[in-house]
Amino acid sequence: MKVLILGDAEAAAGRAAEIIAAQVTAKPASVLGLATGGTMEAVYARLIALHRAGSASFAEASSFNLDEYVGLAGDHPCSYRRYMAEKLFGQIDIAPEAAHLPVGEAVDPEAEALRYEAAIVAAGDIDLQLLGLGLNGHIGFNEPTSSLSSITRLKTLERSTRAANSRYFPDGEEPPRLAITMGIGTIMRAREVLLVATGTAKARAVAQVIEGPVSARWPGSVLQMHRHATIVLDRAAASELA
Ligand code: F6R
Repeated sequence: MKVLILGDAEAAAGRAAEIIAAQVTAKPASVLGLATGGTMEAVYARLIALHRAGSASFAEASSFNLDEYVGLAGDHPCSYRRYMAEKLFGQIDIAPEAAHLPVGEAVDPEAEALRYEAAIVAAGDIDLQLLGLGLNGHIGFNEPTSSLSSITRLKTLERSTRAANSRYFPDGEEPPRLAITMGIGTIMRAREVLLVATGTAKARAVAQVIEGPVSARWPGSVLQMHRHATIVLDRAAASELA
């Protein structure tokens, strides 16, 4: 596990974007695993800047997002499909058909999860998987006690996760209870993983994930077992490390 501690959240986002840009430069046809959430907004802003500067092309790349809410239409303002279209895909040169997310409004979400897992396998698995970190240590929507060898499936979101994400939903509308998420086993098959966490609110989870025992109680701790895991933090998120 390589841990990089940058001065602030902007610097952390910049370093993460550089790592992604270096990946698509070294291997233009990379399969990227992508994440959503507040932390990634700064990463994607920096990645778009690198693309505009001519330092990153995604023309040959493909991507698979980690997760999507069950029951939200793709054009719902809080769907991850919409987030990705607005915050990244619409501003870089990735081919629309090469950018994949689970279909949240699928009639049979369990079948959709299996289809998605099979599509990742058929693409040859992920070259570089980008991850954020939940306050409870989740990666993707693999909440605490998720099986460390799980594949893409339906997960019930914890109350704390729904509370954290409710800030993105309009007043009176609550985040869905279920999501389709890549499993921890799916994530661990990625050839490289890059986790980004910033801010003091993440410090406890960061300390558990990096220095605690490997445990399904803190799902991100499984990355201690990954051969090529890089953790990019700002000083605030690193503040509870020993
Ligand atoms: C989102 C995802 C989640 C987030 C995590 C952190 O696709 O997979 O694991 O990365 O909840 O979210 P923020 O960055 O909003 O704190």
